[in-house]
Amino acid sequence: MRLLIGVPKESAPGERRVAVVPELVPKLAQAGLDVALERGAGAAAGFPDAAFAEKGARIEAEVFEAADVLLKVQPPTAQEVARIREGATLIGLLQPYSSLEEIRGLAARRVSAFAMELMPRISRAQAMDVLSAMSTVAGYKGVLLAAARLPKFFPLLMTAAGTVSPARVFVIGAGVAGLQAIGTARRLGAVVEAYDTRPAVKEQVESLGAKFVELPLETKDAEDKGGYAKAQSEEFLRRQREFMARCVAEADAVITTALVPGQKAPVLISEEMVKGMRPGSVVVDLAAEAGGNCALTEPGRDVEKNGVAILGPLNLPSSVPFHASQMYARCVAKFLLHLVRDGKIHLDLEDELTRGPLLTREGEVVHEAVRSRLAAAGDRRG
Ligand code: NAI
Repeated sequence: MRLLIGVPKESAPGERRVAVVPELVPKLAQAGLDVALERGAGAAAGFPDAAFAEKGARIEAEVFEAADVLLKVQPPTAQEVARIREGATLIGLLQPYSSLEEIRGLAARRVSAFAMELMPRISRAQAMDVLSAMSTVAGYKGVLLAAARLPKFFPLLMTAAGTVSPARVFVIGAGVAGLQAIGTARRLGAVVEAYDTRPAVKEQVESLGAKFVELPLETKDAEDKGGYAKAQSEEFLRRQREFMARCVAEADAVITTALVPGQKAPVLISEEMVKGMRPGSVVVDLAAEAGGNCALTEPGRDVEKNGVAILGPLNLPSSVPFHASQMYARCVAKFLLHLVRDGKIHLDLEDELTRGPLLTREGEVVHEAVRSRLAAAGDRRG
């Protein structure tokens, strides 16, 4: 019997992505895997059922019950968990620290569940790194939102009606999303400055044609072993805000992307700093999902303060659903093929690529950090 890969239609409100795209169906077939797509699952991303069928996928009314492996974007709802076959495998962005109830449910159904966001960020896992893929989409779209909202052009224009000076963009946080934001703003012709607490990114910022802002802050300890930012003290952040006030005030658009893994986003733009901005300016807060880098951000909403627009978009990757799905699906398929040997799922728990994202297995929650969150949540409910 060949393994059946089920691809459900995403049920989360506003979610337009799909976890498999047609180009991958033959690749999975080659590895001995059949694909069953829930009718219409790819439609919102621009992949009609016919495009999947043409590549050999089955189109079904329901896929949860029959699938050996379910590929999803968002975590399954409690009702969906109840429909998953006992002992099946699930791969998706399972939001391991916030979907605690669903994770308990997955363990109870003896599902082997993999949360793609827990993939270790090592070179061997780069092609499976969905966080980088989705940050790329968010960084790009964030700049387009700023450009569309700004009452100005981004590029320098020399026209018969005179010269138009270019927009000034300030990017805070130059990780994957920030670097993509810098590249996109530069391609639109803006003059770009950027800052990050990790001094290692200076060269990358400059290679994209932006200016790296040097602040008189001690940052040699800003990075952990994995290349991620470490949390800074409140005193550090206060001084950072003070030093950045000028860059923020001079910018037409500020794109913030600063995150510290596992923590609430640092507040880097105060209400006072927004007051210092020119009317018509825009802040796009790409950290809105983690609480926001701007004190005035309301996640999921656009607000205006003293004529400055503050955008707190959520799930931006879903707003570029074709390419976001393509990138996401390629990463997920790569990971699935990593787990398959001779047409069967084979879990090598010695392998950190397999063990890292594994949340539940054989009835247990096996991921240490998620287990402690569950225990803490249990105590609180207690
Ligand atoms: P992220 O999304 O967690 O954070 C975004 C950025 O915010 C980071 O560059 C961080 O330094 C910055 N930041 C945090 N606090 C800040 C503050 N107070 N002020 C200004 N900036 C602040 O990180 P992301 O983008 O997911 O990855 C960051 C880095 O991780 C990469 O640049 C790379 O070095 C490493 N990485 C390695 C990968 C691999 O080897 N496979 C894959 C992806 C990332």
